[in-house]
Amino acid sequence: MKPATLLLRWYRVHGRDLPWRKTQDPYRILVSEIMLQQTQVDRVRVYYKSWLKQFPSWKKLSLATNAEVITAWAGLGYNRRALMLRDVARTVNLNGLPQTEDEWLTIKGIGPYTASAISAFAQRKRTLPIDTNIRRVLGRYLLGIHFPQLADDEKIHGCTEEFLPRRGAYWDVPQAIFDLATSICTKSPDCARCPLKNECFASKNFLEKTVTIPKRSTKKPKERQYRNKPYPDRIYRGRILKTVRERVTIRSNQLGPLIDPMFDQHLDQEWIDDMVSRLIKDKLLKQHRKRLSL
Ligand code: ADE
Repeated sequence: MKPATLLLRWYRVHGRDLPWRKTQDPYRILVSEIMLQQTQVDRVRVYYKSWLKQFPSWKKLSLATNAEVITAWAGLGYNRRALMLRDVARTVNLNGLPQTEDEWLTIKGIGPYTASAISAFAQRKRTLPIDTNIRRVLGRYLLGIHFPQLADDEKIHGCTEEFLPRRGAYWDVPQAIFDLATSICTKSPDCARCPLKNECFASKNFLEKTVTIPKRSTKKPKERQYRNKPYPDRIYRGRILKTVRERVTIRSNQLGPLIDPMFDQHLDQEWIDDMVSRLIKDKLLKQHRKRLSL
């Protein structure tokens, strides 16, 4: 039996019921895909709902201010994604909706994965968006690579044909793979339960337990972290935004003790100023006469 048939049959029983799987609205699909980048599904569910309530359409989102989108995004992390999403809404509002994967790719902030995901889920194009989950499943199944890397995508791309059947719900195939990847084909996979185990090029070794599972299969990008601070800058940047949001406006030299209980004026002010300038550069903060605001 074709892998897609096995996958879809498995998906009908075990697939997750997720709100963005019930729509073909490109706006909703894009919101979900951007939120799902680096954020867990359960968390996204909550934010997806409240975001759509506040910004139900491209039009509504395109009119939102920086402060509004950053506030609505608070807690999801990587705030730049919120501004990017709003800017995409402005572009769509101005120029109309892109119709092809290539047209989506011309929009700032939309990469190959996202362009393919929108085409697949909103427009039901026969394309397979490759994220870390899909890379892991297909790299194992098609190529027998136990822990596939970004560099393997080209080979995977060349072999996606058999995963997208000519007939049937081919648009559900990527969704099925997402679910397989997070429940069975995880870093340390449970091949015994996998619907694809008989044809998979990696299952034999995993089942015979001859594969060493690395502590971390993909290297985490090295995050910027200052001196002896316990957290990476990302956490303190989040705290700065939260503080500015709550105070509406604040001076940069008042921030230190509010975001770091160990703040030392002599040693740490330069660090705060540096984070603030990066936030301004990323358009997450504004500065007017030494006062910061969203
Ligand atoms: N990760 C990226 N896109 C997803 C989706 N549509 N469902 C579940 N996980 C995902």
